[in-house]
Amino acid sequence: MNENVHDDELTQVLPAVPLFTATTPPPRSGQRDRKLRLPARSVSNRRGRLGASGSPWAQRPAGPDLVIDAPSHQPSARAPLATLEGRNVSAWFGERQVLDRVNLVMPAGVITSLIGPSGCGKSTFLRILNRMHELVPSASLAGQVLLEGEDIYDPERKLVDARKHIGMVFQKPNPFPAMSIYDNVIAGLTLTGKRASNDEKDYLVESCLTKAGLWKEVRDRLRAPGGGLSGGQQQRLCIARSLAVTPRILLMDEPCSALDPTSTRVIEETMLELAREVTIVIVTHNMQQAQRVSQNCAFFLAAQGAPGGIVEHGPTDAMFGNPIDLRTADYVNGRFG
Ligand SMILES: Nc1ncnc2c1ncn2[C@@H]1O[C@H](COP(=O)(O)OP(=O)(O)O)[C@@H](O)[C@H]1O
Ligand SMILES: [Mg+2]
Repeated sequence: MNENVHDDELTQVLPAVPLFTATTPPPRSGQRDRKLRLPARSVSNRRGRLGASGSPWAQRPAGPDLVIDAPSHQPSARAPLATLEGRNVSAWFGERQVLDRVNLVMPAGVITSLIGPSGCGKSTFLRILNRMHELVPSASLAGQVLLEGEDIYDPERKLVDARKHIGMVFQKPNPFPAMSIYDNVIAGLTLTGKRASNDEKDYLVESCLTKAGLWKEVRDRLRAPGGGLSGGQQQRLCIARSLAVTPRILLMDEPCSALDPTSTRVIEETMLELAREVTIVIVTHNMQQAQRVSQNCAFFLAAQGAPGGIVEHGPTDAMFGNPIDLRTADYVNGRFG
């Protein structure tokens, strides 16, 4: 496992709150290509796909925006379940390609797990799914990410929309430690300057903490600092914080790897509950966890010196019970990785 992933995660503490602070303004959409320094190959790939690719998704006439306009602080606001799709997603750090043309549909209301050995590009793929990859200075990418058929990288679309609709929970719980539990939950609203009455905030805090399976444990100490909670509770607080902006997709990068078995079980139960209202994509190195929580599964692998890609994907039962590819069979049976 490389060290820079961990460093990287630390730098993502703020972006993990799905929106921007006043000191980190979102890049305007027109700046994206310049900032990303796309390699020539990816520029042509990308433009080709976006333009003349003939993709039925890309050419769909502009219909009503699928974005739910109801203010996210309204407790009743719940976005319909959404499908996320990566099409021909490639990624580079500098000149080094780390993902090669990954295609994956993550269906609405289904929990999809991404499995595979360290370094094969699972986290990179996940970060591309909510436009966090582009925050790394040397990073570039090609391909499309479609949220209900709309490309989140379309220059017409705002980066903040992608973050709002596609939340992320990290391996290391990252609440704002000095901020109260209450304020942590509504941090996404506060950072975007959204206004909500105190009653609305109270309702939102209770409902998000309830959905995240934490309400009963913290209802009597909502003004205590988030940093005082146990690791498992902090992770559920981060889930509650993500839910407060009503995401349609929740990405989770090894959310239980730093937790004890009891906390892990609580998070898994929480995920199964949440799947009714948000599409979940989880990276996990725990094969039992993938089988317990996910209905679909994708196995990523990178050959020595080559970029990562998907070897096989499909229903989790089939991936574990009757894999097609020998490498999948070896991995799910613990023979490597
Ligand atoms: N910020 C970064 N800068 C340069 N290379 C990186 C960075 N983050 C990840 N990588 C490299 O990209 C490859 C894929 O990493 P990652 O997506 O973290 O894999 P996984 O999550 O499957 O362990 C690895 O070779 C890793 O070293
Ligand atoms: Mg990773």
